[in-house]
Amino acid sequence: MWRLKILVIGTGYVGTTTALVFCELGHKVTGIDIDGNKINFLKSGKLHFYEKGLDVLLQKHLTNHNISFTNDTKKAIRENDLLFICVGTPQGQDGEADLQYIKNVSEEIGKNMDRYKVIVDKSTVPVGTAELVIKWIKDNQTEPIPFDVVSNPEFLREGSALNDAFHPDRIVIGSFSKKAEDIMIDLYKDFQCPIVVTDSKAAELIKYAANSFLALKISYINEMARLCETLKIDITDISEGIGFDKRIGKQFLNAGLGYGGSCFPKDVNALISMAKKHDKSLSILESAIKVNESQPNFFIQKIKEFLGEVSGKRFAVLGLTFKENTDDTRESPSHKVIRLLLDENAKVRLHDPVAKQTNKEVPHFEEVMETVAGTDGIIICTEWSEYKNLDWNKVKDVVKTPIIFDGRNCLNSAELIKLGFIYKGIGK
Ligand code: UGA
Repeated sequence: MWRLKILVIGTGYVGTTTALVFCELGHKVTGIDIDGNKINFLKSGKLHFYEKGLDVLLQKHLTNHNISFTNDTKKAIRENDLLFICVGTPQGQDGEADLQYIKNVSEEIGKNMDRYKVIVDKSTVPVGTAELVIKWIKDNQTEPIPFDVVSNPEFLREGSALNDAFHPDRIVIGSFSKKAEDIMIDLYKDFQCPIVVTDSKAAELIKYAANSFLALKISYINEMARLCETLKIDITDISEGIGFDKRIGKQFLNAGLGYGGSCFPKDVNALISMAKKHDKSLSILESAIKVNESQPNFFIQKIKEFLGEVSGKRFAVLGLTFKENTDDTRESPSHKVIRLLLDENAKVRLHDPVAKQTNKEVPHFEEVMETVAGTDGIIICTEWSEYKNLDWNKVKDVVKTPIIFDGRNCLNSAELIKLGFIYKGIGK
């Protein structure tokens, strides 16, 4: 027997993963999206984005009829009890989060609901959004029907979405309603992690504070990496040496080209913008952005200093995605590296195991060997396993000059040096 009837509104990687996790827990889930193509893809058992393991679960639950996808908003809202909002909150004017999709969804819920519902916001939204959702729903109801709104931010990462969703470090439930709070605690009762119960405003801020702290941690280690280069110290020793301190923790201390993706850059900006609205400045986060934005320049400068100049030289850029195991190239530092190289009149050849690019100035190759052939330098922009496990001996035979600039510090430098490569990482 199904325990709950859940509607997931927005079938991006958060919505789709959330939907499938609830199917696994035994609930009956419906997915809806304004993009008909996404719905058609999902109905046919295919994902419209790359995320390991999710396709298998999708096919399993389509076959078992635990999950279905529809375009019929009215029916979907009426038939379900728990409505999860998982739509995008893109960066709007002045860095603030654009709530147009949240507003549209809330209005649809208001117009179409016919009995008590719990509306759960999983999208990353500014403090006070739950109250706005309540208002938008009420404004669109033709008669007063009771409902509750809960803020339940999501902390899963692209590339490890399923594992993160099944094994979260914590679950955050924020609501002003005890009834809704109890429904949510029951929904998550099988999860072996702490549940933080608070009000919706705090829950909304927890999400931004978490993402911003992690972004800050990355910028901190990247700035340390710059100092390490000057002092001739290896940053990986520093990361290890401080990471064993439980108060600091080992994760997110990998120096590299900086953070990208659809979340950190947008969310740090949104938090700064939110604080500004309340006449507060978050100078520490402004500095984190500065370090992050200048990290590709720092890297290119390093390449230029080493090679004398890059003009006319041919480079193989390996990796376009903002990290491994995703096809997402949004805000990827790789774009910036390529742009900076082209601006210096260098020639760029590109490889990525998954992502396709549209920049006509840059030829994109299917095979790594083809990409690196005849190049004056290899630049690693994404830490794909494919690059870590390359037959670097073979690579050495086809390049013009055996130099590797590892923008993710992900290769085994000692082995590469043994093979005869010149190896340059970040903060090394
Ligand atoms: C991030 C958060 O980690 C998730 O908890 C959150 O749910 C998600 O945003 C979101 O708000 O939806 P994600 O953007 O998928 O997840 O990627 P991360 O794994 O956090 O990596 C972000 C960027 O930081 C990547 O470009 C990565 O290469 C970079 N990074 C990460 C480093 O440069 N160094 C590190 O040590 C770790």
